[in-house]
Amino acid sequence: MGNQASTDSINERLPRHVAIIMDGNGRWARKRGMPRHAGHPAGVEAVRRVIQHCVARKIEVLTLFAFSSENWRRPKQEVGLIMDLFIRSLRKEAKRLHHNGVCLKVIGERAAFSEKLQQRIHEVEQLTADNTALVLQVAANYGGRWDILQAAKSLAVAVEKGELSTHEIDEALLANRLSFAGLPDPDLFIRTGGEHRLSNFLLWQAAYAELYFSDLLWPDFDAAALDLAFADYASRQRRFGRTGEQISGEEAEAS
Ligand code: IPE
Ligand code: IPE
Ligand code: MG
Repeated sequence: MGNQASTDSINERLPRHVAIIMDGNGRWARKRGMPRHAGHPAGVEAVRRVIQHCVARKIEVLTLFAFSSENWRRPKQEVGLIMDLFIRSLRKEAKRLHHNGVCLKVIGERAAFSEKLQQRIHEVEQLTADNTALVLQVAANYGGRWDILQAAKSLAVAVEKGELSTHEIDEALLANRLSFAGLPDPDLFIRTGGEHRLSNFLLWQAAYAELYFSDLLWPDFDAAALDLAFADYASRQRRFGRTGEQISGEEAEAS
């Protein structure tokens, strides 16, 4: 993305919200003859680069899938190392995030985490709560099904308490109880590492996201790779059920 024309066209149509399944850490390490877990610290470097680039490009929300509700099925040692890395990264990165105006939120079922990790998450969330340059959501012990289930349960509780009646429940009310209530849905949904699946990430919120798959392993993902995804996104026509002619008609009217 070296020339000015392509940079301008990216800037015109940037996504407000980018969601990324950061996949391929294990394979990246194995390719280098290292144990799988060595890929995760390398993945943290890529996280840092991508956050910085999203701030530079003035993206509003970045949601990163760090640990799924199914990742507990991995060998105990790998899970332990990922949790340690999570705690260390939160401590190490907090100041930098704050300095860059990033507001950090962790989404997912955090009760499963150690007290220490929960405390650390709370501290960084408090520290960065009023920042506005970028909302960074880190999905940890997150699953799309869990998210919809907890929203449905909380609606059921409201009905039980008589605060709500069943016929009032609509998409907006349910969406309000999902993990990232109040933020726009993801526009661009990226998965690195070559797999073409959702792996239980944002099942409700990604209903109309543009999907983009990169063969790069996550630790190799960088600003240039993100710009390629942005350029691809900028070239797409989002129709939300309408026809292409309707959309081009509206665009012509607006310009
Ligand atoms: C993604 O990389 C990171 C986590 C799921 C925590 P992987 O560890 O899944 O890497 P691969 O897919 O095995 O290469
Ligand atoms: C998805 O990657 C979860 C994260 C990137 C955190 P996985 O590597 O766990 O996905 P599957 O198991 O290949 O579908
Ligand atoms: Mg994987």
